[in-house]
Amino acid sequence: MTRHLITSAIPYINGIKHLGNLIGSQLPADLFARYQRARGREVLFLCATDEHGTPAELAAAKAGLPVADYCKQMHATQSKLAEGFRLSFDHYGRSSSAQNHALTQHFAGKLAENGLIEERSERQVYSNADGRFLPDRYIEGTCPNCGYDKARGDQCENCTKQLEPTDLIDPRSAISGSTDLEVRETKHLYLLQSKLKDDLDAWIDSQTGWPVLTTSIAKKWLHDGYGLQDRGITRDLDWGIPVRRGDADWPGMEGKVFYVWFDAPIEYIACGAEWVEAGKGEDWERWWRTDKGADDVRYTQFMGKDNVPFHTLSFPATLIGSGEPWKRVDYLKSFNYLNYDGGQFSTSQGRGIFMDQALEILPADYWRWWLLSHVPESSDSEFTWENFQVSVNKDLADVLGNFVSRVTKFCRSKFGETVPEGGAWGAQEEALIAELTEHLTAYERHMEAIEIRKAAGELRAIWVAGNEYLQASAPWSVFKEDPERAAAQIRLALNLIRLYAVLSAPFIPDASGTLMEAMRTEDANWPSDLSAALKALPAGHAFTVPDVTFRKISDEERETWQDRFAGQRT
Ligand code: 2FM
Ligand code: ZN
Repeated sequence: MTRHLITSAIPYINGIKHLGNLIGSQLPADLFARYQRARGREVLFLCATDEHGTPAELAAAKAGLPVADYCKQMHATQSKLAEGFRLSFDHYGRSSSAQNHALTQHFAGKLAENGLIEERSERQVYSNADGRFLPDRYIEGTCPNCGYDKARGDQCENCTKQLEPTDLIDPRSAISGSTDLEVRETKHLYLLQSKLKDDLDAWIDSQTGWPVLTTSIAKKWLHDGYGLQDRGITRDLDWGIPVRRGDADWPGMEGKVFYVWFDAPIEYIACGAEWVEAGKGEDWERWWRTDKGADDVRYTQFMGKDNVPFHTLSFPATLIGSGEPWKRVDYLKSFNYLNYDGGQFSTSQGRGIFMDQALEILPADYWRWWLLSHVPESSDSEFTWENFQVSVNKDLADVLGNFVSRVTKFCRSKFGETVPEGGAWGAQEEALIAELTEHLTAYERHMEAIEIRKAAGELRAIWVAGNEYLQASAPWSVFKEDPERAAAQIRLALNLIRLYAVLSAPFIPDASGTLMEAMRTEDANWPSDLSAALKALPAGHAFTVPDVTFRKISDEERETWQDRFAGQRT
């Protein structure tokens, strides 16, 4: 049976992530991991914090902490928030781990052995005021591609173009704002990606099932040449993975570290080794080396669109260039951006809702449902408080929550807190099962294909079908004339609650757990035959009436939150 290796783009360590970051990789990856586990498949789901480079150094300086301490603290914070959102990583690693140090140095050694690394004297921006080189985010200026005036030295946030610091127009130091800059010579290592163009081209061409967004970005960078320029993979920074050639020193490279974008994707692999080191699993190579059993692994990556060039070109170049049999991505799911109330979510500007703030307001499932059912799949999407309120109140409270409450309370009042016996299914029940079977088949198809909005739509339709059945069969009226028939209806409806818990778990795991507990069952088997699945709780089986599954958001609350999140986070 296929095993699923799933990775989410590893978030930068520099602060708490906003909901736009969350839905751009980690949350959809979690949905897929939970779904595959629920189908009984073996899953390894990995994520980590991306701890090197200028984002980490700048954030640590702002927090007044040594960078290693800052990263340790922030990793703990991010792990806790990930747990809060129920992200079910098998391991949440750190790109600063000993495993990633060793593996990054190993890859550099292999690439050098294969003639794919060259030492070059390079012109780098030096700040006289700061007394140091200004790589990547230490420098800001105007993007030569789109004219955005806050482009960073590594990438323009506006048009996603990857940049070199010397590309920027009107550059200034991000540390001091100084424009007293000069270009100086310094020696760096370059990965000769251009030599791998044919291999990459052939590999990307062979990936016929990738989403259009992924392939179009990959092809664009491959063919306009920019994405495949030879790339500097070292930096003049203190914090990072020291430049070594495997276990050996690299003469001339003393005091330099690898570029963060070189070591970050390697952390996907190193994270497997960390998972074993942490005692959570065995034999990570079985997932990552095709010569050691990874042939039956299907590897799916999740990321925002700005990350696609690194995952379709740079990281595969590292893997191919090593000449070793590393597992490469089979399916790369990329996302557009989620905007916030008429503008962008922004970490630097503190705009939008951040993960810690979201959990202060409402439990994870409310956010998970809204975010996943509005995921920016085919285009950018937008969070508005109105839409959030409507969606929660309608889908979660009116449709799902109300169904659970009506069924359990009615049963308690007429039959007690056990599944009632008597009566039999008729045409209405057969029609419901046929309808549910159709939606379930579509739900499974969309989940397998990672078409998340469509999957959410089918799940909603499954909830709605139960409500409509209840409305049409009206056990509260039937009970007066024919209590046996009403018992059969309610027996089915109670079984529907268990079915909803099983099918909804990837989206709303906490609510699903609450419903399973209320139905006093641990039978979370994915249904293969709905007629059988809807008899899983037999007559006489005890249950309890759960507390409110989902509450409504009032207009007043919506307005309060709208005001609270209108400004900038301080
Ligand atoms: O965009 C980001 O948040 C990056 N830290 C993603 C890195 S993904 C990978 F390369 F590991
Ligand atoms: Zn730009």
